[in-house]
Amino acid sequence: MANNNEKVVLADPAVIAGLDNYRNLPAAQQPTWLDQAALAAVQAELSKQPPLVFAGEVDILRDRLAQAAQGKAFLLQGGDCAETFADATADRIRNRVKTILQMAVVLTYGASMPVIKMGRMAGQMAKPRSSNDETRDGVTLPAYRGDAVNGYDFTAESRAHDPKRLLQAYHTSASTLNLIRAFTMGGFADLRSVHEWNKGFTDNPANARYETLAKEIDRAIRFMDACGADFNALRAVDFYVSHEALLFDYERPLTRIDSRTGTPYDTSGHLVWIGERTRQLDGAHVDFMSRIRNPIGVKLGPTTQPDDVLHLIDKLDPNREPGRLTFISRMGAGKIREELPKLVEAAKNSGAEPLWITDPMHGNGITTKNGYKSRRFDDVMDEVRGFFEVHKALGTVPGGIHVELTGDDVAECLGGSEQIDEATLEERYESLCDPRLNHSQSLELAFLVAEQLAKN
Ligand code: TRP
Ligand code: PEP
Ligand code: MN
Repeated sequence: MANNNEKVVLADPAVIAGLDNYRNLPAAQQPTWLDQAALAAVQAELSKQPPLVFAGEVDILRDRLAQAAQGKAFLLQGGDCAETFADATADRIRNRVKTILQMAVVLTYGASMPVIKMGRMAGQMAKPRSSNDETRDGVTLPAYRGDAVNGYDFTAESRAHDPKRLLQAYHTSASTLNLIRAFTMGGFADLRSVHEWNKGFTDNPANARYETLAKEIDRAIRFMDACGADFNALRAVDFYVSHEALLFDYERPLTRIDSRTGTPYDTSGHLVWIGERTRQLDGAHVDFMSRIRNPIGVKLGPTTQPDDVLHLIDKLDPNREPGRLTFISRMGAGKIREELPKLVEAAKNSGAEPLWITDPMHGNGITTKNGYKSRRFDDVMDEVRGFFEVHKALGTVPGGIHVELTGDDVAECLGGSEQIDEATLEERYESLCDPRLNHSQSLELAFLVAEQLAKN
């Protein structure tokens, strides 16, 4: 019998979508927060914060990634291995955006192809680790897991997992994204500034080569200007942000039901990806990501089997939706030619059309004699060449590149036109995590990719 207290229970779209199903599954690489009450308060606070991205932008990106999967656009995704709170400064953000824009110019001009610009930015603050602990001089503490979880300083206090950092990660991402939007929409990214972005750099070979190209673009623009062309398209760029969606305590509260479509979007970024260490088929990450509408990336390391690829496609993209799924292979220069073809072929034979991009960084890690985590620039370049060779041989599309880079003049990767050697690492190594390409190495890589694309 109905009474006055009875409420009409409306179907909850988050329940229908199964957004919390991941809680019943094993979740790798999660923090061990000590203070559960503090965690609950942070989750409640995060779930009240405005979304960082709008679902409509996410849908546009999905369409553009579908273009890339067909060879009609190219995805350029780059940024820090791990963003830090301290480095979310105007200068550092500007330098990274600038580097990505310069690479985009090289690619757009060299390959005459639209480039989708995407940062590993505004959310890339949680890191999976191969070991839970780190030992220094006989002292063992929890490993650094990114600023969203703990601090890099090697003290018990700093290394404790603190849920309040999730809120700081959100606010830092919000201010980073705000500046990115200001730069890319407000005039800084105008193609007529193509020279400005290279200021202060022109003395090394990659920068000199860029300068030559910028002059050609300048001339072409002035010519078109004299012809009375309309330059609206040159004024601004669409810039997307992405990160590894590692922490459920961050991603779940930022996942919202879009009022236009009634479906869930993870509003922490436009594209989110699943890392090599969390892509277990029956794990929490794959389940959670299968239920959101964002384009999803999945890293594929050298032990990936064709069946893994097929099962990932079935779980993450059951409807074979164009632009939904991006595979980011990170095989290592010595393995890509051997390991990638069977994966690409399996996907192709299944009728799926994922976007294939190359991460030439994570399969090429080395430790130098003087103790730095580094990568040889030649290996990075060789993996990129291998990626193009594999797709050429199979008649499939090499659709993008995923790199760790910074716009600053660091020395973290070995080689390149400045010929950075092991001793130089001691002078200009700043990364708290993986080694990044510096500004000129990033440009040099862009020229290589542009050449490969133009050949295609
Ligand atoms: N809007 C165009 C694009 O995004 C042209 C453009 C403007 C551009 N500024 C740019 C291209 C900076 C590369 C880099 O492609
Ligand atoms: C990363 O992108 O920083 C990373 C940890 O990559 P992967 O999951 O491929 O090892
Ligand atoms: Mn990394």
